[in-house]
Amino acid sequence: MNKIAIIGCGNMGLIYANSFLRYKIVTKDNLLLVEKNTDRQKSLSAMDIGRVVTTSDKLIADCNIVILAVKPQDFKELAQSLKEVLHPNCVVLSIMAGTEMSFIQSALHHPFIVRAMPNLPVEISMGMTAFSASANLAQDQIMLVENLLSTTGRTLYLKEEQQLNAVTALSGSGPAYFFYFMKYLVDAGVKMGLDEHVSNILAKQTMLGSFHLINNGQKTLDEYITSVASKGGTTEAALKTFQENHMGEVIVKALQNAKSRAEELSIK
Ligand SMILES: NC(=O)c1ccc[n+]([C@@H]2O[C@H](COP(=O)([O-])OP(=O)(O)OC[C@H]3O[C@@H](n4cnc5c(N)ncnc54)[C@H](OP(=O)(O)O)[C@@H]3O)[C@@H](O)[C@H]2O)c1
Repeated sequence: MNKIAIIGCGNMGLIYANSFLRYKIVTKDNLLLVEKNTDRQKSLSAMDIGRVVTTSDKLIADCNIVILAVKPQDFKELAQSLKEVLHPNCVVLSIMAGTEMSFIQSALHHPFIVRAMPNLPVEISMGMTAFSASANLAQDQIMLVENLLSTTGRTLYLKEEQQLNAVTALSGSGPAYFFYFMKYLVDAGVKMGLDEHVSNILAKQTMLGSFHLINNGQKTLDEYITSVASKGGTTEAALKTFQENHMGEVIVKALQNAKSRAEELSIK
């Protein structure tokens, strides 16, 4: 039976706690919610979903999985007390953005680290999480972590940790790009005379249907574009505007900038 400690039970920590319990990966008796914020401690106790403890609690030593879900800037201070209570064989799973595994290894004096990059739809078990593991992790330890992460959606193992910067730019930040595009679809509908709620329904269902089509169908993205854009038609008129304004290049540049920023913010 797994014994899991989640350190930092804010937005993300709580999502993981609830996801693990939903899929019965852990029982609430074997789930430690390690939180330093006293208001949060009270609300976590009221939820009755695990044992609420503080960072230096000796019970952490019984856990085979320890999840780091504090903000990256809080990690250094946390590491001071945590390194004293970690079980030597436990796997430390970090979801802290931009914090490299070698940095976590040396701060905790601990070899077994997994670093994951989730995205916002983990809130509804539809997340995309890419993860990388330190070289010394055994296959069964990697599988264990994958089973945990997949309670929040889809997972992808990456051999090279450095690729997590590109992951951050694509799937990590990605939900914001879709919200941004949706916002302008809805705005455009309103400017063309539709009620906002009508424009909203049209935009949402179009995104949902298009996603399922590319996910279930056989065609390439270019073939799907051609299926909608007949010669001399309405879609072609819109796509011509995108092309004239170099929208494809703008998207590629935007993601490259996000990746560069992820590299700059990396804690090594
Ligand atoms: N939110 C996202 O969409 C997302 C996506 C990918 C990755 N992440 C990563 O997930 C991590 C958590 O993000 P979040 O949005 O869940 O943050 P959050 O809501 O601020 O939660 C972090 C919690 O940890 C507590 N904490 C800080 N130091 C602690 C310590 N030493 N011991 C125990 N608890 C401690 C904080 O208390 P105080 O409030 O008192 O400081 C807070 O309650 C971050 O590293 C972030 O980079 C987030």
